[in-house]
Amino acid sequence: MAGGVDLICLVFMWSLWSAACNGATDTLKPGESLNSSSLLVSANGKFTMNFRAHELDPNHSYLVITWNGSHNYAWVANREASILYPSGALTLDRNNTLKVTHRDGDALVLYSADSETIGGDAVATLMDDGNFVLQEVSSDGSEKRVLWQSFDYPGDVLLPGMKLGVNRSSGRNWSLSCWFTERSAVPGPFTLEWDPDGHDLKIKRRRVVYWSSGVFRDGSFENIKEKRYKFSIVSKKNEDYFSYTTLDENAVSEWLLTTIGRLKDFDESIDIAKADSCYGYNTEGGCQIWDQPKCRRSSAEFEQQNGYFNPTGASGTTATSTSDSNTSLSISDCKAACWADCNCIGFLFLFPNQTGCRYWTGNLKFIADSISYDSNVVYVLTTKSVDSSDASRKWIWIGIALLAVLLVMVLCSMCYLLRRRKLAGENQRNVQDMLNMINSNRPTNANGLQNDGKGGHDLRVFKYPSIIAATCNFSDENKLGEGGFGPVYKGKLVTGQEVAVKRLSKLSGQGISEFKNELILIHELQHTNLVKLFGFCIHGEERMLIYEYMTNKSLAHFLFDSTKCQQLDWNKRFNIIEGIAQGLVYLHKYSRMRVIHRDLKASNVLLDERMNPKISDFGMARIFMNDEQEANTMKIVGTRGYMSPEYVMGGNFSTKSDVYSFGVLMLEILSGRRNNSFYNDDRAFNLVGYAWALWKEGAGLGLMDPTLGDSCDEHQLLRCIHVGLLCVEENAASRPTMLDVIPMLTNESMSLPVPTKPAFCTERNVITDAIGGSGSETVSSINTISNSGFDGR
Ligand SMILES: *[C@@H]1O[C@H](CO)[C@@H](O)[C@H](O)[C@H]1NC(C)=O
Ligand SMILES: *[C@@H]1O[C@H](CO)[C@@H](O)[C@H](O)[C@H]1NC(C)=O
Ligand SMILES: *[C@@H]1O[C@H](CO)[C@@H](O)[C@H](O)[C@H]1NC(C)=O
Ligand SMILES: *[C@@H]1O[C@H](CO)[C@@H](O)[C@H](O)[C@H]1NC(C)=O
Ligand SMILES: *[C@@H]1O[C@H](CO)[C@@H](O)[C@H](O)[C@H]1NC(C)=O
Ligand SMILES: *[C@@H]1O[C@H](CO)[C@@H](O)[C@H](O)[C@H]1NC(C)=O
Ligand SMILES: *[C@@H]1O[C@H](CO)[C@@H](O)[C@H](O)[C@H]1NC(C)=O
Ligand SMILES: *[C@@H]1O[C@H](CO)[C@@H](O)[C@H](O)[C@H]1NC(C)=O
Repeated sequence: MAGGVDLICLVFMWSLWSAACNGATDTLKPGESLNSSSLLVSANGKFTMNFRAHELDPNHSYLVITWNGSHNYAWVANREASILYPSGALTLDRNNTLKVTHRDGDALVLYSADSETIGGDAVATLMDDGNFVLQEVSSDGSEKRVLWQSFDYPGDVLLPGMKLGVNRSSGRNWSLSCWFTERSAVPGPFTLEWDPDGHDLKIKRRRVVYWSSGVFRDGSFENIKEKRYKFSIVSKKNEDYFSYTTLDENAVSEWLLTTIGRLKDFDESIDIAKADSCYGYNTEGGCQIWDQPKCRRSSAEFEQQNGYFNPTGASGTTATSTSDSNTSLSISDCKAACWADCNCIGFLFLFPNQTGCRYWTGNLKFIADSISYDSNVVYVLTTKSVDSSDASRKWIWIGIALLAVLLVMVLCSMCYLLRRRKLAGENQRNVQDMLNMINSNRPTNANGLQNDGKGGHDLRVFKYPSIIAATCNFSDENKLGEGGFGPVYKGKLVTGQEVAVKRLSKLSGQGISEFKNELILIHELQHTNLVKLFGFCIHGEERMLIYEYMTNKSLAHFLFDSTKCQQLDWNKRFNIIEGIAQGLVYLHKYSRMRVIHRDLKASNVLLDERMNPKISDFGMARIFMNDEQEANTMKIVGTRGYMSPEYVMGGNFSTKSDVYSFGVLMLEILSGRRNNSFYNDDRAFNLVGYAWALWKEGAGLGLMDPTLGDSCDEHQLLRCIHVGLLCVEENAASRPTMLDVIPMLTNESMSLPVPTKPAFCTERNVITDAIGGSGSETVSSINTISNSGFDGR
């Protein structure tokens, strides 16, 4: 046998050599023939076509197309009947008939021109893709028509570009069929088909579907895991077919359907489908389910082993084997029959050419024997250790995966909890710091005034979620306005109480210090004309202050609105003036600390439902120590137009700075005009200057807001203007204190000093320059914008 193989090799080499010498061609012309000593080679040198003796059966040959690197036959012309070597020949005769002839027996006609009229000559060419094509070439060689091609007669190999499916117009079905046995090319029981209805590839054994690729979707098949292919599906009225190519054009690929029903990419040894492991009970890897005998629902599988069944078992049972000498039975038939018989425990081939079956039944012992010869190969049905270990391995992997998922979940939730804990802890610490600071900042003997009885802080620490709920997650509908340090929202607590939430800008250093300042200050201050702070909330970087909610928003909201201002009649305005004055007196004098507000203006005076004023926004307020009368700051904060000259010029502030602001505010209330946005066309005065000018001319009433109309008590109004002008005097020392202002306003009989020329009554440019901000005109005309922090010099 070895000699035979050598001989074949020699012959093959020689044929290659002779072909090379003769200048191997890819084409067979009319009248030419190919015999065992010649071959066709495709133009690109990749495919050859010749007669080959089977390596296991050297007297028999096939006319084959081989891909030059492969040991497999890509196509076999004479599958049904092998030809005695070397008698075969492929002939294209002058009547354009393509046929395989051999010494004894009939010719195998591949194509006969009988049914068609051929104009010119036909030539047969081995193409670069491995297709052997007989085509009619017109006399001038320009037109070609395919008469016959090997790709229309697939064997057990699918090459890239070959089709599987159906051509209804030619009535042709393209499908693969396996070799009957390893040494017989006769079509065997397994087929690979393209199912145009199911849109999937199917491997069938004698029409039973063993395996399905799964529906073609998004360019791939569920049960074809290999990623190196590009599939192409054509679905037309008369044609439905599948073909594939490799993504890498230079890659080598050749799908082979094996005798046992496995689909593999031969040269890469890739298993595409394992229909041989489909037993009808599992659905793994595309296996399909079909009727099972009741006894076979376990995970039993056939395993190829070397050995024999001991005919005389321990229990004294005699040999129980049955044979089926039907030579049309091959391995898969034996397997299926044994599987269906509940007593069958294994089988082997009856004939050396791997046909026929011998079944073993009963309780027999299998004796393993490593010597390998054909009759020693037994297919034993085992409740497979391999299978169970496969399965258990699968379960182990599933377990590991589950555990990993669990671990990740646990870690994640721990991280989350820790983060929450940390955040909560941070918040808790911040809250505690804040409370401690409030307590430590409380002056023990401020001004000698007694504690108002509320010894400990009665501030509420609000929970963030409750604030979120109250403000509808800081929705725009709930936004009341934008302060200098952040927006203010309206909120409704679960108790139904309405609150205003000032949300200090995150990460703003000023916001944080303002927050502390306001907290320390305002919770100590209890006065009907000061807005009440309920509590605060700290969440991560966020700082929020929660105040009582003022239905009527701010004084600025009413005063500077042409329609709303009509609601403020004289009595209300006077009441507001008095209330503000009372609030300031409390701040300056009667609170346990001496507090200077530093940012008194119309928008910082809020109005409750009965139009009672409440001073708000203590973010810039400063506490004065007992004996401290005046302080100096490098950082001038406040709102232009309301700031006293000594503060703007020198950064000096005292209670008299608030008096100045009060004076300006009072003039605004009387006139209904903003100090900042006051324009007088011919004389570029501001409100203060305008009031002074009118006062000097004895026309003080000209300042009156026209909307006041008849409600106005002119005498009282003039008195107010008088007091207002005293408050805005240039010299801080000559301004009255707030304590003085109250009787000046209320006691009609009290005589007032004559006011002197106020500060900042001249042209606006001077003021602008004095403030040192070139853009002050535009800023001041917009109003309500706090200029928090333009530096003094
Ligand atoms: C093959 O054909 C050539 C010429 O056509 C011939 O010389 C040769 O002997 C033939 N070989 C066989 C094995 O028939
Ligand atoms: C296969 O084809 C390549 C060229 O494509 C050539 O180099 C190589 O020698 C061929 N191999 C065989 C075994 O013919
Ligand atoms: C091949 O055929 C020859 C002649 O018919 C015969 O002598 C030889 O034994 C055969 N070889 C095999 C392996 O069948
Ligand atoms: C070609 O066909 C003609 C008539 O159909 C026949 O006489 C002739 O023998 C054929 N030639 C060959 C080479 O088969
Ligand atoms: C299907 O058959 C028709 C008629 O024989 C032919 O014209 C067409 O090219 C075939 N289609 C394919 C894809 O081979
Ligand atoms: C081709 O397959 C279809 C079903 O897909 C079948 O109806 C038809 O008979 C087959 N034709 C041939 C020639 O096998
Ligand atoms: C042999 O087996 C084939 C395939 O199963 C079957 O079609 C045929 O009828 C059987 N022949 C006999 C004689 O039982
Ligand atoms: C296998 O061997 C048996 C007995 O020798 C024979 O009848 C049968 O035709 C052979 N089958 C094939 C496919 O070679």
